[in-house]
Amino acid sequence: MSPKPLRKVVIPVAGLGTRVLPATKSIPKELLPVVDRPLIDYVAEEARRAGLADLVLVTGRGKGAIEDYFDHAFELEEALKGKQKNEILNDVLATVPTAGTVTYTRQQAPLGLGHAVWCAREIVGDEPFAIALPDEISAGAPGLLSELAEAYAEVGGNIIAVEEVPNEETSKYGVISPKGRRGDLIEIDGMVEKPKPADAPSNFRIIGRYVLQPEIFELLETQERGAGGEIQLTDSMMTLTDRQPFHARICATGIHDCGSKLGWLKANVDMALKRDDVGPGLTDFLKSV
Ligand code: UTP
Repeated sequence: MSPKPLRKVVIPVAGLGTRVLPATKSIPKELLPVVDRPLIDYVAEEARRAGLADLVLVTGRGKGAIEDYFDHAFELEEALKGKQKNEILNDVLATVPTAGTVTYTRQQAPLGLGHAVWCAREIVGDEPFAIALPDEISAGAPGLLSELAEAYAEVGGNIIAVEEVPNEETSKYGVISPKGRRGDLIEIDGMVEKPKPADAPSNFRIIGRYVLQPEIFELLETQERGAGGEIQLTDSMMTLTDRQPFHARICATGIHDCGSKLGWLKANVDMALKRDDVGPGLTDFLKSV
C-alpha cells in the first residue's frame, strides 16, 4: 500500500536568530538575503519543486514582514509597471504564491523548535507532513525536500535528512544511530544531540528537513524542556523511533547553514558564483583580494 500523500510543509520562523544579531534585531532571520532572494523564498521554491503545495508558517512577534513578502506589494508593482521594468516586475510577482496556499499560525514565545512545530498541529491535522527549517537551504538540485519526498514515497513512515560530517564535528549536531542501511536509506533506532566524537553512534548529522507522522504532536504535547531549556523536536523524535518506522535519507543535495554568520557568507558566495549575472564579476573580485 502506498503511504498517505504528503501535502503540507511546516516552516517555523519564530526564532530569535541570536547568532546573527544585530542584523536580526528588526529583520526576521528568514528574510536575510542570499544574493537577491530571502532565505524563506529558497525554501518555498524547494517545497514547490517537491510537490508540497501547502506551506504552514509558524511565525512570532516581529515577523510580520514575512507575511508581506508572500503578498502583493501594490505600489511597488504599479511603479514597476509604470516604468516598464517588466523583468523585475515578473521577479516580484513570482514571489506571490497561489491564494490560500500559505497558512500562518503564531508561536507566542520562542520556546523551542519542538514547541513551534506543535503550534501547527491544528492546521496539519491527522496526516503526515514535512518540516523545513529555512535557515538551511539547498545548495543545488534536486533539493532536500524532493529527496525526502522520494524516500517517503518508497518507505513511508518518518524520514529525516542527513549528511556525513567529519568525526570531530559530531558535537555540533544532532546525530543518528543507524540500524541498517540500503543505498542512501538508513534505518535508525535513535538519535543523539551533540555527542562527543568518541560517543557518537555515527557521523551522519541531521539536516533541517523532516517527514513526520502526526503522532509526533501527541509526543510534543507533553515533551519536557530539554537542551537549552527549550522544547526540542529531537527529544520527541527519539521517542517516535521506538514506536514507528524511522529512516534517514543521506541527501545528495548540498546544504548551506545560514543560521551562522560564516555559513550565511559562504552561502552568498557559493550561490552568487553559480549565477550568470553576478558570478563572473564576483570571480574577478575574489581573485583580486
Ligand atoms: P534555530 O535555532 O536555528 O533558530 O531554529 P533561532 O533560534 O532563531 O536562532 P539562534 O540559535 O538564536 O541563532 C531553526 C528554525 O526554527 C525556528 C527559527 O525561526 C528557525 O527558522 N524556531 C526556533 C522557531 O520558530 N521557534 C523557536 O522557538 C525556535
